[in-house]
Amino acid sequence: MDGPAIALRSLTKRFKGLVAVDEIDLEIEKGELFGLLGPNGAGKSTIIKMLTTMLKPTSGSAIVWGHDVVGDRDAVRSSVGVVFQDPTVDTMLTARENLDFHGRMYGMDAKRRRQGIEEVLDLVDLSDKADVLVEEFSGGMRRRLEIARGLMHRPHVLFLDEPTLGLDSQTRRHIWQYIREMNLQEEVTVVLTTHYMEEADNLCKRVAIIDNGRIVALNSPENLKDLIGADIINLSVLEGHDDLLQALEPQGWIRSIQTSNGEVQLHVDHAQVRMPEIMTLAYRNGVGIESVSMHEPTLEDVFLKFTGRKIRAEGGAGAAARMGPWRPRR
Ligand SMILES: Nc1ncnc2c1ncn2[C@@H]1O[C@H](COP(=O)(O)OP(=O)(O)OP(=O)(O)O)[C@@H](O)[C@H]1O
Ligand SMILES: [Mg+2]
Repeated sequence: MDGPAIALRSLTKRFKGLVAVDEIDLEIEKGELFGLLGPNGAGKSTIIKMLTTMLKPTSGSAIVWGHDVVGDRDAVRSSVGVVFQDPTVDTMLTARENLDFHGRMYGMDAKRRRQGIEEVLDLVDLSDKADVLVEEFSGGMRRRLEIARGLMHRPHVLFLDEPTLGLDSQTRRHIWQYIREMNLQEEVTVVLTTHYMEEADNLCKRVAIIDNGRIVALNSPENLKDLIGADIINLSVLEGHDDLLQALEPQGWIRSIQTSNGEVQLHVDHAQVRMPEIMTLAYRNGVGIESVSMHEPTLEDVFLKFTGRKIRAEGGAGAAARMGPWRPRR
């Protein structure tokens, strides 16, 4: 197959009044390990559903492995594997039975199914659990089985919608390892969605940050973080919030200042060196500081920069926190 693995032109999905996916243009090359990162409701699953022919686009086009998702559904379906956000393994069957059923659906003959089952179970380290009822599997094992199933019919492109949602961090890391292996060894193009910043950062070679159905940033995690280009200092202010801002404003070495209820965030080169200076400024101006922290840029900071909001607390629920506007200084 010539050309990119995936090519989207103005891809759009409307649900009545709501624009869930808004004129997305995107190309993903063969062999990529690509991430769609965004908060709840950003439109990630809707994109995956359109690319796997489960949902019809409202307008625009999507070509997957050379096939049009509307005009050539069967060819798309046999080229892709998918693990949906909501679990779909049958818990009343064994791992082997689940995979065998999937193989039949894809018209694989008995020999290919037998061979395929062994290979994919081996890939996710579940060979010794082949004949155990899925009912008895842990959440991580079920997810691994679903990934194995997605690979059963040897797809060129594998879509993983939130592959590690709700799993503990150790299990998550194991699954990252399986995803890396199949991307490298099996040469499968992988497109995954996540709202975990560290997942996109650690796993994906390229990331599209999605917000309200649009791509707000697209690059490697490294290059995205370089956009911030400085360390980040968070100051939790007890009193004298405005005085602190006044004292900080004229300091030329501060790249930008952002505030939200009681918190002040500074982007600064060499945060370690500047820290005493900041504390002195606060002290001189009678500002009460409750706590200070600093970190190198994360994809969360990139998301904040482009949207003015946080994705959401890692692992936590709840709405995205509203932050004040971004104020670049140069
Ligand atoms: N079948 C549907 N009918 C109406 N609205 C829908 C439908 N499916 C999704 N939506 C809406 O489209 C928007 C995007 O939803 P989508 O599930 O794609 O987001 P997401 O990025 O996958 O979110 P999450 O991180 O919660 O999985 C949301 O506002 C959602 O409520
Ligand atoms: Mg989703």
